[in-house]
Amino acid sequence: MEYDVEYLKNQTSINYDKTLCYCKNVSYRDAYKAIADNKLTSLDEVVDKTQASTGCGGCKERILSLIEYVKKNEYAPLDL
Ligand code: FES
Repeated sequence: MEYDVEYLKNQTSINYDKTLCYCKNVSYRDAYKAIADNKLTSLDEVVDKTQASTGCGGCKERILSLIEYVKKNEYAPLDL
């Protein structure tokens, strides 16, 4: 199952072991930390930090959803 913004909005936590970007093997944990630690707000910033989305590009929507999710969490650090 994919995480989209509507799904994430209703979650208090997500499975951070799941893979966000298959081409670059970036997990939700890696991406969340990159976004939260650096207060990233755009897809390009996440791409720069993680290299996610530099393969097939199929994970762009997941990255955008995760950015919204981390923003909703007010960039709270991830201790998992
Ligand atoms: S799944 Fe992320 S670039 Fe292909």
